[in-house]
Amino acid sequence: MTQPAAELQELIAAMEQRRSKVEAGGGEARQQKQREGGKLTARERIERLLDPGSFLELSTFVEHGANRLMAGVEAPGEGVVTGRGTIDGRQVFVFSQDFTVLGGSLGKMNAAKVTKVMDLAAKTGCPVIGLNDSAGARIQEGVDSLSGYGEIFYRNAIYSGSVPQISAILGPCAGGAVYSPALTDFILMSRGSSYMFITGPEVIKSVTREDVTFDQLGGADVHTRKSGVAHLEYDGDEAVLDGIRDLLSYLPQNAREQPPVRECTDPVGRSNERLLDIVTPDQRKPYAMHDVIHELVDDGTFLEIQPGWARNILCGFARLDGQSVGIVANNPKVMAGTLNIDASDKAARFIRTCDCYNIPILTLVDVTGFLPGVAQEHAGIIRHGAKMLYAYAEATVPKITLITRKSYGGAYLAMNSRDMGADVVYAWPTAAVAVMGAEGAANIVYRRDIQNSENPEATRAEKIAQYKETFDNPYVAAAKGYIDDVIPMEDTRRRLIQTFAMLRGKEEARPFKKHGNIPL
Ligand code: HXC
Repeated sequence: MTQPAAELQELIAAMEQRRSKVEAGGGEARQQKQREGGKLTARERIERLLDPGSFLELSTFVEHGANRLMAGVEAPGEGVVTGRGTIDGRQVFVFSQDFTVLGGSLGKMNAAKVTKVMDLAAKTGCPVIGLNDSAGARIQEGVDSLSGYGEIFYRNAIYSGSVPQISAILGPCAGGAVYSPALTDFILMSRGSSYMFITGPEVIKSVTREDVTFDQLGGADVHTRKSGVAHLEYDGDEAVLDGIRDLLSYLPQNAREQPPVRECTDPVGRSNERLLDIVTPDQRKPYAMHDVIHELVDDGTFLEIQPGWARNILCGFARLDGQSVGIVANNPKVMAGTLNIDASDKAARFIRTCDCYNIPILTLVDVTGFLPGVAQEHAGIIRHGAKMLYAYAEATVPKITLITRKSYGGAYLAMNSRDMGADVVYAWPTAAVAVMGAEGAANIVYRRDIQNSENPEATRAEKIAQYKETFDNPYVAAAKGYIDDVIPMEDTRRRLIQTFAMLRGKEEARPFKKHGNIPL
């Protein structure tokens, strides 16, 4: 290669110098502070997230929108690093807020860098990943900064369900800034070093006199256990970034594509006889639904979403013969698996996420009903429970329902019965489908017989047994076609795989509408 002329060499050197300055972000001292706080820098995060060498930076030389307050202020890279790369060979777009530059605060041009990659992600049909670590609106830029947020929120909303959007919270995320992550599909938080809140401890103290720390107010524990705002929490940046890679492995690139298929070495016809020890016919004996899921899916691998919140219902991703499936399951170990407000919200959101991204849904049912109580009624269990019904009916992906034990009343419908749109419904011999449990039913239906009896307790026991004999089994529902087959427990994995294979390519039309009006 010939040596470039001296003039050209100068231009190249100037370019490299500018690039180095941008890459240095807020400088060594601030980066050191970042590392001392147990965090990676914005660029280190990108390196860790993407396949080695795949990052292509965009908008590298963008500078802040100068105004009077910003005059003379330097902001290398404008406080955010943006571009594309690959994860497991598939293209993704990424923005990584750089806290070392003006606290990663968001001004007009910072937002322009972010919306550039969001637009490219939407146009090319690829996921977009936001690595959030920012002090919020750039105070010096005033309304321009608010407008920048608006441009991001707008895109979060209009690209929702078109391409997967994933948010990692790796530092501060406060004020209205929280609404960009909140509009995305998944929020992952690092424990101890990230927080999200609308109003901070100081404002809260002045308004309500409550004393609270950043972490107590909006740390990972709070949002994955109490508020349900975040989906997953990890120890440290590295674990969060690995978590994003794992999560994406279950998702397609966009709403037009199917999720990737992994090679599967776990035999399709593997016997599930272990289930016979896990689920006994004794309706009062709870069992771990997690064990049931692990037994059925490929290699026992289940990525549970929101595992710490609304634990009475389980949602998560797994694979059956290498194909992604979303699993929704009652958890008899927590609140006897009843459905309450939070469980309804959690499941409805997960069902809709699966439907957006063409992920078939397996529903495992063991539920006695919606949680009774004044608090639940007054807080709107009707409105929230309706979301589950809506989400299942709306979903056009393949849907299999398996009743493991109890399926009673309204919850029978909310857990995707045949009438609510399940393509195939299976039950185990341990299943019982009825309007309510035998004790409750006998007390209502045979109240007079029991009251008038010379021996009320004996009559009650007799009527309960009679009711159980008639209804507390899967065969009444199966006889009427509400259950497609009662299957041997040990043969469940093979049947689920075969049935999902049968449903591949399923299409289901819906009447014209702008969009539905899900109860919120
Ligand atoms: C511009 C900011 C900034 C901001 C911090 N910096 N916040 N610059 N706009 N909002 C700068 C600091 O001057 C400092 O610059 C650097 O970022 C690091 O900040 P520190 O305070 O030194 O860091 P730390 O001690 O770690 O504290 C982090 C923090 C604190 C808790 C986030 O910076 C903070 O409270 N900032 C203000 C947060 C805030 O009120 N944001 C507006 C929220 S309202 P140097 O040069 O010294 O490194 C909002 C509305 C959005 O966001 C609405 C959207 C609709």
